[in-house]
Amino acid sequence: MLDAFRRQAAACAELGSPMYAGLLGRCAEDLEAGGVVAEVLAGHEDDPGPSALALRLLGSVHRLVLDRRAGELAAFYPSVGGTWEPDGGWAAFTRLLRDRPDEVREWLDRPPQTNEVGRAGALMGGLLHLRHRLPVRLFEIGSSAGLNLLADRFAYGDSSGRIFGDPTSAVHLADAWRGHPLEQWPGLEVVERLGSDVMPVDVRSTEGRLTLTAYVWPDQRERLERLRGALAVAQGTAAEVRRSSARDFVGQLVLRVGAVTVLWHSVMWQYLDDDEQADVTGAIQRLGADATDEAPFAHLALEPLRRTPGREHEFLVVLTEWPTGERRVLGTSRGHGMPTDWDEMPSTG
Ligand SMILES: C[S@@+](CC[C@H](N)C(=O)[O-])C[C@H]1O[C@@H](n2cnc3c(N)ncnc32)[C@H](O)[C@@H]1O
Repeated sequence: MLDAFRRQAAACAELGSPMYAGLLGRCAEDLEAGGVVAEVLAGHEDDPGPSALALRLLGSVHRLVLDRRAGELAAFYPSVGGTWEPDGGWAAFTRLLRDRPDEVREWLDRPPQTNEVGRAGALMGGLLHLRHRLPVRLFEIGSSAGLNLLADRFAYGDSSGRIFGDPTSAVHLADAWRGHPLEQWPGLEVVERLGSDVMPVDVRSTEGRLTLTAYVWPDQRERLERLRGALAVAQGTAAEVRRSSARDFVGQLVLRVGAVTVLWHSVMWQYLDDDEQADVTGAIQRLGADATDEAPFAHLALEPLRRTPGREHEFLVVLTEWPTGERRVLGTSRGHGMPTDWDEMPSTG
């Protein structure tokens, strides 16, 4: 547990959250000394590393802050207008754990739920690479709350100042795209949008919105702004997200003449076991085999992959289109989708 907290502290530092890096560093010291953090986490000592107990704890505390149930700690949380300050913040954090241990424990058993709106930048840019410019039917697996299914309703800026998407949107992803300039798709029309997740989050409920906000790190203002903007867009048109495994959802997809059917996903493939990955891949191949120029199919993914076997993992945007079966690595993004560097000459292979 101690190592997991230290590793998470280092990861938060690297991913631009000095607040969580510092807070988790102090939590690790407290755990070692058997302090209040150790008391609240009692019973979780053997939780597996990937369950991200450190983020569960911080998510639980953040939701109490957002819910105005954390007293003076709110003064230190930038997400509610406070300013992080290491000593005062730590003192208030430990007081909350001491005063309200049961409320903090309530969320320790839930997996962190993020729906990262920045990833819409990589997905939308990928969509602009489609060879068939027909009305788009958009399907997603591992959608969480389905916010990225609204990608065509957001605005995107590239490094030369051009704006794509809906310039009036409450979501503006500035400097979303670098590298090879993308082509506009005037008249792009999404005629169907449907998501799926084993644990969907309902953005129309207060609980759902609170959940998504609680797992964004409180000092990452840009991510919070993107999320708030997307929640506002979703109040107008939320995309339906069905409770379904990726396997069942893709197994039931059918193509339609006169539209390009797109299946996309971001940062979810690692959660499928080998059997489910194989089944989903098989279903994608079958859809590809059914595709024609009148009813084309595309698979678009933002996932950590290696460009070639010896290389490090990168967040690659990969598009495969049928009926040709042409696969292209379109560019390299980041974990949170911002920015994406588009390749000069998308490589086939
Ligand atoms: C890291 S989140 C990414 C969510 C969203 N795609 C995004 O990029 O913001 C991974 C999502 O995959 C979902 N998930 C995990 N296992 C799944 C499965 N077998 N089938 C479908 N979704 C799954 C989780 O519930 C979670 O919402």
